Amino acid sequence: MNYEYIVETRNITKRFGNVVALKNVNFRVGKNEIVGLVGDNGAGKSTLMKIIFGIYAPDEGEIIVKGMKFKRLTPRKAYELGIILVHQERTLCENHPIWRNVFMGRELTNRLGFLKIKDMKELAYKRLAELALTKMPVDTTVKYLSGGYKQGVQISRALLFEADLVILDEPTVQLSLAEVHRVLDYVRRLKQRGKSCIFISHNIYHVYPVADRFVILDRGRVVAEFYKKDLTPDDLSNIMISIARTGSVPQEYMKYNLLQSKQSQA
Ligand SMILES: Nc1ncnc2c1ncn2[C@@H]1O[C@H](COP(=O)(O)OP(=O)(O)OP(=O)(O)O)[C@@H](O)[C@H]1O
Ligand SMILES: [Mg+2]
Repeated sequence: MNYEYIVETRNITKRFGNVVALKNVNFRVGKNEIVGLVGDNGAGKSTLMKIIFGIYAPDEGEIIVKGMKFKRLTPRKAYELGIILVHQERTLCENHPIWRNVFMGRELTNRLGFLKIKDMKELAYKRLAELALTKMPVDTTVKYLSGGYKQGVQISRALLFEADLVILDEPTVQLSLAEVHRVLDYVRRLKQRGKSCIFISHNIYHVYPVADRFVILDRGRVVAEFYKKDLTPDDLSNIMISIARTGSVPQEYMKYNLLQSKQSQA
């Protein structure tokens, strides 16, 4: 099927009781585009990602994946469509070894249904090596790993799926400087391989180098979008501070805001 965007949301609204987590959100990710999704705590970033990955159903709106429309997705369907979400929350099984976690829910089995343990260990090692996570043997129980290492294991899982769209929700929070660089290299490799990525981070200096475009969410709404070429990291930082304080983009940057024309029509 011919499509321009790998994922698009149209007028997505999501409520949790009285809390409106997302309000009429139009968001899209192009083919081979890296989108930096930024915004304050509670802006709705993770909720939007969980809707795209099918963990939550939206109250209103629709999700379009590769040109196909959905009222809601399920994680299984999202996988099938080539989407993977690396959660902000931990989703590892602490009492299982690393390799088992890398393959969780996608175990390799032979024709008789037995686990192909040797193959899985080898493949897990290869993927972990891509992130230079080889310090701990793949047999190590996850609970003995550092926070950063655990995060790396979660990312390896995404690597394994060769997804078309990889969503990384705060992948760098607990990482050391060297580990952050590996994650950023991984995102660059996704780009080189023609894949797409949504990268969520509170740290502008992590998201800036890898993103092609930034989308800023504030209190459940998309308030601004910019191409990286129009901003320096400091510009982006100024914009974010202004949005947090006043809810709006400083005047001098309005000409670059890709939402500007839509807003003035509204
Ligand atoms: N399962 C839930 N039940 C009730 N309220 C929720 C739930 N998930 C999120 N919310 C609320 O929805 C809003 C958006 O939360 P969300 O986690 O999407 O924000 P976020 O942008 O990812 O924030 P952070 O940067 O802190 O991760 C918040 O007000 C949050 O409290
Ligand atoms: Mg979040």
